[in-house]
Amino acid sequence: MKTRLLGKSGLEVSAIGLGCMGMSQSYGTRPDETEMIDVLRGAVDAGLTFFDTAEAYGPFINESLVGKALAPVRDRVVIATKFGFDIKPDGTPWSGVNSRPEHIRAVAEASLKRLDIETIDLFYQHRVDPNVPIEDVAGTVKDLVAEGKVKHFGMSEAGAQTIRRAHAVQPVTALQSEYSLWWRPLETEILPLLEELGIGLVPYSPLGSGFLTGSIDQSTTFVSTDMRNNMPRFTTQARQANQVLIDLLAVIAKRKDATTAQIALAWLLKQKPWIVPIPGTTKLSRINENIGATEIELSDEDLREIEAAVAQIDLHASRYPDHLEKLTGI
Ligand SMILES: NC(=O)c1ccc[n+]([C@@H]2O[C@H](COP(=O)([O-])OP(=O)(O)OC[C@H]3O[C@@H](n4cnc5c(N)ncnc54)[C@H](OP(=O)(O)O)[C@@H]3O)[C@@H](O)[C@H]2O)c1
Repeated sequence: MKTRLLGKSGLEVSAIGLGCMGMSQSYGTRPDETEMIDVLRGAVDAGLTFFDTAEAYGPFINESLVGKALAPVRDRVVIATKFGFDIKPDGTPWSGVNSRPEHIRAVAEASLKRLDIETIDLFYQHRVDPNVPIEDVAGTVKDLVAEGKVKHFGMSEAGAQTIRRAHAVQPVTALQSEYSLWWRPLETEILPLLEELGIGLVPYSPLGSGFLTGSIDQSTTFVSTDMRNNMPRFTTQARQANQVLIDLLAVIAKRKDATTAQIALAWLLKQKPWIVPIPGTTKLSRINENIGATEIELSDEDLREIEAAVAQIDLHASRYPDHLEKLTGI
């Protein structure tokens, strides 16, 4: 398995990680826990060392699942989790963010317990809290690092100035934000900033929540609990309009004897050596397929071809409903 370093932090992880969110929520019926434990252990056997969870996934149960599955191989894996939503201990639906220092501390303790580990390898702020100065957030994580409860600090969907201010207090190891061929706003300001500061990028939804794999088209239906029913980019019209992007990936995939999912991931890996995508899947066969992306070398000519073709496409990619979108880029 190829490995990568997340920025200048020294944190080394498999070149592709595993997003575990879908094992507990988001994409319809919740998969069986025992099966997911097998998938997680299979992922480790396949060479993955980087696992992504969050207090919010479930909530809570995804951390417990990841903790249980990875306990036997704890010393071989890097576990990333996240704080920052205002989740009550009983997990009742929440709407806001909460990065008050005492809340961060409480979440860290609870996450350590659920994950059944001594130290959180990478602790991300899931969304910026506009009511708490970022220096206070970074300062709290700095204290947790000093106490040995956290090794690395991460942020998610944060804006450039916020990242810079946080990094001045406690070095940020990785930013986890959405990045893929159909969502590229961070190319203008954020990628150059990460390069300047030596911060790694962990693109989430690197397969466009499944769309970029080519396994979804305008006739696909999602069960009622699937979050894609509420995402503007998954309306029938948007899927129809965006199909041209999948057709492009399919042409390149055929030439490279690869799958469209692998080309979508290989494109991300090619952008910067400090990028580590975390595709999510509940299937071991797809973990192996996605790992295969690390063996695909896109040439500069391939990249130019993709760029030129994408420039012609009028993508319909708006992602979240407004109340969620406004929590990004702060
Ligand atoms: N920081 C944040 O705010 C944030 C937000 C969203 C997600 N995340 C993290 O990022 C991770 C990945 O994002 P994501 O799960 O939203 O989206 P994603 O990785 O872009 O796509 C996941 C979807 O693609 C399918 N899939 C995966 N590999 C496939 C393949 N080779 N062929 C066909 N289908 C495939 C999966 O279905 P199957 O299970 O059926 O394979 C699943 O429905 C999450 O698990 C989570 O850890 C973070």
